[in-house]
Amino acid sequence: MKALVLSGGKGTRLRPLTFTCAKQLIPVANKPILGYVLDQIAETKIKEAGIIIAPETGEYVKEYVKDGSAWKIKVTYIPQEPLGLAHAVKTAQNFLGNDPFIMCLGDNVTGQGVKKLVEKFEKEKLDSLILLKEVDDPSRFGIAQLDKKGNIIKLVEKPKVPMGNMAIIGTYLFSNKVHQAIERIKPSWRGELEITDAIQEMVNMGFNVRADVLNSWWLDTGKKDDILSANAKILDEYIKTNVQGETKNSTIEGRVQVEPTAKVLNSKIRGPCIIGKNVSVENSFIGPYTSIGDNAQVINSNLEYCVLMENVIVKNVERMEDSLIGKNAKVTKNSKCGTIKLHIGDFSEVEV
Ligand code: DAU
Repeated sequence: MKALVLSGGKGTRLRPLTFTCAKQLIPVANKPILGYVLDQIAETKIKEAGIIIAPETGEYVKEYVKDGSAWKIKVTYIPQEPLGLAHAVKTAQNFLGNDPFIMCLGDNVTGQGVKKLVEKFEKEKLDSLILLKEVDDPSRFGIAQLDKKGNIIKLVEKPKVPMGNMAIIGTYLFSNKVHQAIERIKPSWRGELEITDAIQEMVNMGFNVRADVLNSWWLDTGKKDDILSANAKILDEYIKTNVQGETKNSTIEGRVQVEPTAKVLNSKIRGPCIIGKNVSVENSFIGPYTSIGDNAQVINSNLEYCVLMENVIVKNVERMEDSLIGKNAKVTKNSKCGTIKLHIGDFSEVEV
């Protein structure tokens, strides 16, 4: 069995971060989401993964994953113009051959991992296994309608008038029969070859397709607020107290990880949160659900529920909340009360 990891796409909803970073590389708890996806694949017996990359951001993905040896997985990169999830499968056909495979979206993670799914798919000799989860906003997702016995009746991609609230999550298992189904579908109204349509086609063709309901959390990091809640969830799940850096005249409360080379001075850190390598925190408060990326500086500031990526500087900011700050960005408060001075990139969002 192989894995196909989708790390292409345009990432338009996460601009400007995606001008210089693939969206799957945006860190939560100081680690790219793609890293969690590969960790979960590495827990299975799968040893070969194809990674779909986009022309604009593929190099960033390669730089992070390299040859996959960090996960003991042999990686093949597959460049793709982002024309849909089923188009990605079509583009990967040479790599996949006739083998069954698990397809994981590089920006989706669940709390249950994928090992049991792979085992179930093989044991029950399925042609497709998909996972569903109840959502509040069904028009943002692929939606499945099931009968009372749990059989799939209908699958629709981002329905304008939803016929239910069971969303298809970004982990799919397929036999080689999916390729026959993809040959039969046409691009959707948004111009993409939809995997949802291909699965519907597999159902129509009488293949053995099964939908299970996910019993754990699911993170889909399409937008800024999704990244912040993913960061909170991962900090909550994985962070254990581990304070190795210097913490002079400071209070550390709750589950906090401070990397060995970080320095915390005259500050209060309240977990769950993570303070990265070479970070400097001075006269500040770092509140719950915050991740501070490597080499960042937080001086005379109060932060809560934030993600700061690498090399960020935050200085003299009385209160910063619910914020996602990209690499090398600087946020400072000037002394003239009420004046805002900005130097921000295209598609940035500032709320004052
Ligand atoms: O998150 C779950 C949802 O993912 C499902 O409910 C939908 O049925 C499914 O279509 C998909 O919807 P999204 O609109 O959220 O997909 P998105 O365009 O964000 O792409 C998902 C991932 O796949 C993302 O990491 C980018 C990558 N991708 C996307 C496209 C369209 C590719 O690698 N190639 C592509 O052509």
